[in-house]
Amino acid sequence: MRTPLIAGNWKLFKTIDEATGMVKELKTLVAATAGVEIVVAPVFTALSRVADSLTGSNIRLAAQDCFWEEEGAYTGEVAPKLLVDAGCSHVIIGHSERRQYFGETDETVNKKAKAAISAGLTAIVCVGETLAEREADRTFTVIETQLKGGLAGFSADQLAKSVIAYEPVWAIGTGKTASDAQAQEVHAFIRSLLVNLFGQSAAEAMRILYGGSVKPDNVKGLMSQNDIDGALVGGASLKADSFAAIANFAS
Ligand code: 13P
Repeated sequence: MRTPLIAGNWKLFKTIDEATGMVKELKTLVAATAGVEIVVAPVFTALSRVADSLTGSNIRLAAQDCFWEEEGAYTGEVAPKLLVDAGCSHVIIGHSERRQYFGETDETVNKKAKAAISAGLTAIVCVGETLAEREADRTFTVIETQLKGGLAGFSADQLAKSVIAYEPVWAIGTGKTASDAQAQEVHAFIRSLLVNLFGQSAAEAMRILYGGSVKPDNVKGLMSQNDIDGALVGGASLKADSFAAIANFAS
């Protein structure tokens, strides 16, 4: 059985005080939540202070990106081992906003994911089609290219330390969630690709998260789908009560 993973991507929101303040509230609200992995992803500058606030809780810490080199003359970059140093267990890689605004490619996603995993992090690798691609009936082709590129050369061990997040770009921040059936269709497709690439049992063990306007009132329907194993939440993860309600989807 796959343990559900609910991750909050805070994007470019929250000062250190706001982040630690929210985490304090969230800890109480999810203290009794069992059988769900809960992760929050603040901005880089808040990571280490949020890590301190999370000590002894059942909430884990993610960064929103990383670089693939360990150190060197790379102004502005952050290495995976420094994320571990700051208290992270996870890192989001290849979010559509990074692909769209910062030139992230399947090749850089692949390098980042491998570097993150070798530093001991769990890589949350994001894929997703734009509205134009969906309307042109290219959803499966786009997802296949992103997935194969992002996971190129992965060993079974590297795969086991990864999570896939399917985030249709047209559903991000728009309030337009994919329907349960639309999301499930792509998740099942992703799992079938994983079967072809890595075999049945590795594919069965993989968690595939859905992201795109996940809210407390639609999470249950999404989570009831066979191949949806969690959520990557943007807007609704910024408030403790709504994120806790999503993390507590089963209760
Ligand atoms: P929203 O939940 O705000 O649509 O954002 C989704 C997302 O991009 C999470 O990574």
